[in-house]
Amino acid sequence: MEKRFLEGKTVGILTGGGDTPALNSSIEQIRNHVSILGAKVYGIRKGWKGLLGEGDIVDLTNQPFDGKCGGSALKSSRTNPFPSKKNPESRVDQVLTNLDRYGIDILVTIGGDDTNGAAKKLWEQERIPVIGFPKTIDNDLRTTTIHGYKGKDIEVCLCPGFPSAANSVVEYTQKIRTTASSHNRVMVLEVMGRHAGWLTGTSSYGFADMALIPELEIDKDRKEKFFEKVKEKYQENNYLIIAVSEGTRWYNDQTGQVEEVYASTETDEYGHPRLGGISGVIANEISQKLKIDARAQIIGYYARSGKCFDYDRKLTVALADKVLDLLLREDYGKMPVLKRIESFPYIEEYNTTAIDMGNIGNLPLPLDYYNPDEFEISEPYYDFLYHILGPIEKYEFKYKYPKVYPIK
Ligand code: F6P
Repeated sequence: MEKRFLEGKTVGILTGGGDTPALNSSIEQIRNHVSILGAKVYGIRKGWKGLLGEGDIVDLTNQPFDGKCGGSALKSSRTNPFPSKKNPESRVDQVLTNLDRYGIDILVTIGGDDTNGAAKKLWEQERIPVIGFPKTIDNDLRTTTIHGYKGKDIEVCLCPGFPSAANSVVEYTQKIRTTASSHNRVMVLEVMGRHAGWLTGTSSYGFADMALIPELEIDKDRKEKFFEKVKEKYQENNYLIIAVSEGTRWYNDQTGQVEEVYASTETDEYGHPRLGGISGVIANEISQKLKIDARAQIIGYYARSGKCFDYDRKLTVALADKVLDLLLREDYGKMPVLKRIESFPYIEEYNTTAIDMGNIGNLPLPLDYYNPDEFEISEPYYDFLYHILGPIEKYEFKYKYPKVYPIK
């Protein structure tokens, strides 16, 4: 029998950065595809950390796996092997030593721009065969995917993990409506996503009435317009749901500055601070300035938790098909991505391509997707999300009763 293409070779997979519900699906699909080529598949635990010190490696070859379960079976970390402000010493030597010690020939790194940025450097500087695999609930990793809308091509991102997180954000937004309406309150719903509004915008798909995204800072002038809009929209239903990105910059009346709100002063090894708390600031100001009862709710880690959503399952299969193609052509330093945004049944390998990891970057929510006057997402973004999330119905109490007046 002829030898299979990667027989005698070992492929190592790692997951780095914040987890997503699609990581296990990605690991499973990459593992399965690599196995077809006859390679052994190792799981590197805790991202780049698993290649430091003694190494922390498990064997995934021919083992059972549950790709539908969210989180990462390999665990994740924000370890950066390259020198950073927090950790000025390079640990690249340790990575290289461990790749050699464990006999890992090819790396597949599942991550966002941080993890894959480090992978890119390993490829460029050390010529380690690397394939990057996209992931992030923030959906800001530039995949160069095109969304065709009414004859116009809009460049978008579509990263595994985002569809599952979007589905959860929609669900939580739908849920909060019942309590908001019972108490005639404004609910300010804070959504992760760092400095990109992709995920917050999905809240509007779940019928949030307004959305604040980090791409448009709320300076003094916009803040006034925002309060006017809140007043106007609140009067329509006597309750209101406002989604806000954790990274929204908001005018502080005391300092006169536009500021982000942090949950902690700590930064990670890639220099990111921990965002959180803007919803409380906004709810408080709505209560005080408009005298409307307002509350804050942070969706937080719920958006990244739980099961892998169907669209993500399909997307990870298609991208893993492309990994197989890259491996067969020994085309390293690349990342598989979706070419055009398509509905669930059309997510297939023929609709994928590979981008150079040297070109990896970030892409915020396109301004075509947002209506700044209404503080809402616009029609093209609804269309984009429709491809991923399908039709949804507003979940609310539908009946209205005639008011009764005293007869005497
Ligand atoms: O990048 C993904 C993400 O979930 C962001 O949306 C969020 O700001 C950050 O990670 C939270 O990071 P951590 O898990 O380190 O608290």
